[in-house]
Amino acid sequence: MDIAYTCTSCGRAIVTDEVVYRCPDCTSTTGEAAHGFQRGNLSVELKTARRFALHKPVDPLAFLPIPVKHAGGYPVGSTPLIAPHRLREKTGYHNLFLKLDSLNPSGSLKDRASLLVAEQAKAHAVDTVTLASTGNAGASMACAGAAYGLRVVLFVPGSAPRAKLLQSLMYGAAVVPIQGTYDDAFGLSIEYTRAFGGINRNTGFNPFTVEGKKTVSIEMYNQLGCRVPDVVYVPVGDGVIISGVCKGFADLVKTGLAVRMPVVVAVQAVGSNAIARSWKEHREVVLNRTSTIADSLSVASPACGGMALEWLKRTKGRAVEVSDGEISTAQSELGREAGAFVEPSSAAAWAGFLKDRSNVDPSASVAVLLTGTGFKDTGAAEKLVSLPEPCAADLASAERLLEQRYR
Ligand SMILES: Cc1ncc(COP(=O)(O)O)c(C=O)c1O
Repeated sequence: MDIAYTCTSCGRAIVTDEVVYRCPDCTSTTGEAAHGFQRGNLSVELKTARRFALHKPVDPLAFLPIPVKHAGGYPVGSTPLIAPHRLREKTGYHNLFLKLDSLNPSGSLKDRASLLVAEQAKAHAVDTVTLASTGNAGASMACAGAAYGLRVVLFVPGSAPRAKLLQSLMYGAAVVPIQGTYDDAFGLSIEYTRAFGGINRNTGFNPFTVEGKKTVSIEMYNQLGCRVPDVVYVPVGDGVIISGVCKGFADLVKTGLAVRMPVVVAVQAVGSNAIARSWKEHREVVLNRTSTIADSLSVASPACGGMALEWLKRTKGRAVEVSDGEISTAQSELGREAGAFVEPSSAAAWAGFLKDRSNVDPSASVAVLLTGTGFKDTGAAEKLVSLPEPCAADLASAERLLEQRYR
């Protein structure tokens, strides 16, 4: 199947039935993501959706570059956009929404990209998908692989949260923990694909990962009565989710369905802030090391940093940094006051809104993207709460425990 690509850097158009990762014109000869900033990444040209009528919900899958034929076995998307009443009251933002993308099949927004990559593998008759991950993309691709019958080879830093690795193994993936960082795993997985074939799903390296993630924006547009929100907060590591989010809104504008882009705010952890610093310092920043409790945001050399910065400019957005303390507070608040149990990376988006809201009119419609569930990082939760020792099974003991612990 021929697929049309346009290079987001030099604009070269390519139509090919081969799997394409980098632009042949402007990528380096090695094409490794280790260069940090995405110079030659390709985005798939949108060729659909002009046929849609205005002000009617649209099918997000129709915006994807290839038809999705097997989605029934891997039900991605259609996640709730909730109106968190208590947080609305507390903050005074009465058009505040939380997009619960943590409710995707494997527990994260990454499923949107994995769905498209699984379809890509089927379209190219390939049976192996290889990737590097901080945990969620791997679990997500493993889940898709199980549904689609694909072999998934997953390179992860040994420090990735255990539950995400166990989850990947349960889905049948070949998990290869390495003594190194996510950036090391990224390079190794590309080397593996070169040597052994198959498709590489590395986030930001395979252009389908950006394309797949854009369905979240088209869903939000539908859920808001065919309107784009005024401001969107997105947690950022490699910069792929935010690029996909923006591409989704741009596709809506391009097709004439929306008249404007929302302001998009990138939220990074202070200890992993390559994109936020690049934004503020107007130069490419690559970090020597990262340190944050938001492990999914822990990226020294973002695969899609250049693209993310371009989108911030195009949406008149900005970058915000939040500390680990702010992330933890936000994680507790989302759990206790919205019933949203999310992992620290997602909580960063909420912390980003709290920090940045002085720049946002209280009447604005604000969407905060909650990208990953808290269930697979209970280690992070254990830093915030602890279970009491069991008490004797009588009322007096229960009352005593309640009095001592929860007064
Ligand atoms: C749950 C979650 N949120 C946010 C991110 C950051 O996305 P990106 O690396 O595309 O910026 C990740 C990446 O792993 C993630 O797993």
